[in-house]
Amino acid sequence: MAASSPATASPPLAGSAIHRGPGISRQLPGSLFCRPLARSSSQTVSAPAASTAPKPRGLLLRCRAAEGAAPARAEAPLKVMISGAPASGKGTQCRMIVEKYGLVHISTGDLLRAEVSSGTKIGKKAKEYMDNGMLVPDQVVTDMVVSRLSQPDVQERGWLLDGYPRSYAQAQSLESMKIRPDIFIVLEVPDDNLIDRCVGRRLDPVTGKIYHVKNFPPENEEISTRLITRSDDTFEKVKSRLETYKQNSEAVLPTYSDLLNQIDGNRPVEVVFQEIESLLQKICTNASEDKLAKTNGQRIKVHG
Ligand code: AP5
Repeated sequence: MAASSPATASPPLAGSAIHRGPGISRQLPGSLFCRPLARSSSQTVSAPAASTAPKPRGLLLRCRAAEGAAPARAEAPLKVMISGAPASGKGTQCRMIVEKYGLVHISTGDLLRAEVSSGTKIGKKAKEYMDNGMLVPDQVVTDMVVSRLSQPDVQERGWLLDGYPRSYAQAQSLESMKIRPDIFIVLEVPDDNLIDRCVGRRLDPVTGKIYHVKNFPPENEEISTRLITRSDDTFEKVKSRLETYKQNSEAVLPTYSDLLNQIDGNRPVEVVFQEIESLLQKICTNASEDKLAKTNGQRIKVHG
C-alpha cells in the first residue's frame, strides 16, 4: 500500500552496481542500422552520479532511418518505463536494454537497497516498508528519482525507469513535472511463476549478478557458495509484495494508456527482449521519420 510522507532530501547514493540476468547483443532489424557510438557500462541506479561515474563502456547506439540522416535521438534520447509484478523480469530486461541502447537504468528498488545497506536515514525508514512488502512513502521515492533524473548523464543518454512510478501519486508527480516516457512497458507473468522466481532468486554479492537456482544457476561452485538471498524474497514477503503490486498498479496505467505495451514475460529471457527491442526500434524509426519529414518541410519552405 502506498504511504505518504513529508518531502525528504536524498543523500548521495551509495552501494555497488547490481547486474541482472544475461545480456545479449544483436543487430537492429529492417532498414535501420545502428552505429556504436561509445563504450558504455551496464550502468544501474546504484552507480554514482555523473561526475564520479566510471568511464562509460559497452555499446551505445543511435538509430538512423537512412544513410546520411541526422541521428534521430541525438537531441531526444529514449525514455522508457518498465513495470511489472515482483520478479516479472524487469531488472533482467533492463540490463539487456542498457547494453543495447545505453540508457541510464534507474531502479527504485536498487536505489532503496543502496540506502538500506549504507544505513542512511532514508534507508532505515525504507527498510520497514520493504520488509513488509509495502511501498516506501511516495515522497521519499519521488525525491530520489527526480534527483537522479536531473543528472547530466541521464539528460544525455536517456533513461530507463524500473519500478517507478508504482502508485497514482508517483505518476502524478512526474506528470506535474512534465516528465513522460516514450513508452510504458508492463511485463505480465502468472502469480505462481512469480513466486517461484522470487524464492529461487540468488544474488552474487561480488559481481551483483542475479541468478535463479533452477532457471539461471551459477556458473561454478565458487560463485555458488557465495550467493545470497534477498531479504524480501521469502514466500510470505513475496505474497505481500504481489498483493501491494496488484493494489497499486491499476491506478498507474491510465496515466500512460497512450504509451502502454503489455508484454508476455512468461517466455525465455531472449524472446521477451526481442519484443521489447522491436517496440523500441519502432520509436526510433518514428522519430527518424518525423525528423526527416520536418527537414523536408523546412527545405520546401526555404526553396519554395
Ligand atoms: P524492487 O527491487 O523493484 O522489487 P520488485 O518490483 O519486487 O521486483 P524484483 O526486483 O523483485 O524483480 P524484477 O522484476 O526486477 O525481476 P528480476 O529481473 O530480478 O522493489 C523492492 C521494494 O522496494 C518494494 O517491495 C518496495 O518496498 C520498494 N520500492 C521499490 N520501488 C518503489 C516505488 N516506486 N515506490 C515505493 N516503494 C518502492 O528477475 C527475478 C528472477 O526471475 C531472477 O531470478 C531472474 O533470473 C528470473 N527471471 C527473469 N526473467 C526470467 C524469464 N523470462 N524466465 C525465467 N526466469 C526469469
